[in-house]
Amino acid sequence: MNSPQYRRILYRSLATGNHGRRDLSPILAVSRLNNGLDGISGLLWTDGHRYVQLLEGPPDSVALTFARIARDPRHEAIEIADDSVATERVFGDWTMADLAGGADEDNRERLMAALRDAPAAVRRAFEEAAT
Ligand SMILES: Cc1cc2nc3c(=O)[nH]c(=O)nc-3n(C[C@H](O)[C@H](O)[C@H](O)COP(=O)(O)O)c2cc1C
Repeated sequence: MNSPQYRRILYRSLATGNHGRRDLSPILAVSRLNNGLDGISGLLWTDGHRYVQLLEGPPDSVALTFARIARDPRHEAIEIADDSVATERVFGDWTMADLAGGADEDNRERLMAALRDAPAAVRRAFEEAAT
């Protein structure tokens, strides 16, 4: 039997205006709703100025979702750090995990464990972003 193929896009961007300092919850709410329907999982990190997001899922869904996100005026200077195909998800438990605080302890621990087990490119991108 063929393994599933997931496309994984990891990008960085900069928040425009004061979007980064605003509550992330409207973005997360839409993301979780859409991503749940589209079979997308991932992680969104922000420090209030920069975003780093990983999207993973069926290739067509990832392409459509990323195209929509790339047009969003709430951020700019989008740079793709990694675009690859994988047979397993890194964040399969999350329609969009949030690494911006607010996540409860349990979630944070599961997230850190997922990052520890993530491919080196993914781990490095989030480590670099967070420093
Ligand atoms: C940093 C950032 C991350 C986002 N992540 C997602 C996401 O994972 N999934 C998603 O559907 N929308 C995400 N969005 C929101 C989309 O850009 C878009 O507003 C939303 O999908 C609704 O699209 P529509 O207005 O064309 O229906 C994100 C927006 C930003 C600024």
